[in-house]
Amino acid sequence: MSPIEQVLINKKTTVNPIWVMRQAGRYLPEFRKIREVNTDFVKLCLNEKLSAEITLQPLKRFDLDAAIIFSDILMVPYGLNQKVEFKKNFGPMLGELDLDELSRLDEIDFVNKIYPIYKAINLVSNNDLTKNKATIGFIGAPWTLLVYMLNKKSPKQNLKNNFFDDNFLINRMLIILEKFLKLHIKNQIDNGAKIIQIFDSWAGLLDDKDLPNYVYIPTLKLVEFVKSFNVPVICFPRGIKNYKNFCEIVKPDVICIDYEINPFQIIKEIKIPVQGGLDPKILLSNKETLNKEAKKYLDIFKDHPYIFNLGHGVLPETNPEMVDYLVKMVKDY
Ligand code: CP3
Repeated sequence: MSPIEQVLINKKTTVNPIWVMRQAGRYLPEFRKIREVNTDFVKLCLNEKLSAEITLQPLKRFDLDAAIIFSDILMVPYGLNQKVEFKKNFGPMLGELDLDELSRLDEIDFVNKIYPIYKAINLVSNNDLTKNKATIGFIGAPWTLLVYMLNKKSPKQNLKNNFFDDNFLINRMLIILEKFLKLHIKNQIDNGAKIIQIFDSWAGLLDDKDLPNYVYIPTLKLVEFVKSFNVPVICFPRGIKNYKNFCEIVKPDVICIDYEINPFQIIKEIKIPVQGGLDPKILLSNKETLNKEAKKYLDIFKDHPYIFNLGHGVLPETNPEMVDYLVKMVKDY
């Protein structure tokens, strides 16, 4: 059983597994080299050989306990025929949305359009580098995907004032997303994903009163779907503040915490396995500070099933040497 599974299934507290959100990405020169000649990010995600190679890059350097498949949450809107582009120094840009077309979309067409993602998962999970490690598949939560699909770009801090005006549209979209996300989850599991992580990066934009409709209920349906395959599910509802409520209602197998939440509060309130927390900016400082801050999380969670990770993705300006230092210190703890 891999170290992550020992934590998740046997609730072990003596192994210290670690993986890093965005571990395959721009802080690695070997990724930048591939990216330089593959200027279209969506096409790169649909190249199963390169996607598998990029997924494995961090595993060649560091003793990480998981491979997270190199893809993007926005490959689902792409599969739903919305135009998706990634612009340098701007981020994602999405095209117009046609609800009628979306309602008529065939499941087979969706799967065909993003099929290389599943082939990449297959390649990764059969590679020797992932032996005794977990291959993690993922989706964006319905709420976060809705935000991108309607806002058409990252919302940064705020949603447009009229975001909730068209209730019919929002509710239709949530139903459509549930259907296609289930399909996306099932195909990832069928091709070797051993864990599914649900990223709800914009959960923190909502008022507490809106969380049940847009976060708890849509996520709960997908969590139950993943569990029906006996596959563990990690939820990352970034920025929600009340992780206790979320866990009681949605009941994921693991809760991934962001770097703004106080870990002392989490250890008091949360009974299920915990992942993450360390501020990615700490990796931009020095080894002494990194050691002190990482040790804080390890100490707090030393008697709790805990998977070491950051509280958001590793930043592009991170020195890979700092990641190496972090992985080694977590393993030696
Ligand atoms: O290593 C991994 O974690 C796996 C790959 C992965 C990527 N995106 C690759 C990527 C994962 C799990 C994601 C998830 C994702 N994508 C999220 C949820 C996590 C989070 O960061 O909150 C979100 C919101 C997205 C949407 C997205 N993709 C944005 C906003 C951007 C632009 C900003 C940025 O970080 O560059 C992306 C692009 C993206 N996704 C890159 C990578 C490696 C950078 C692409 C490049 O090379 O320019």
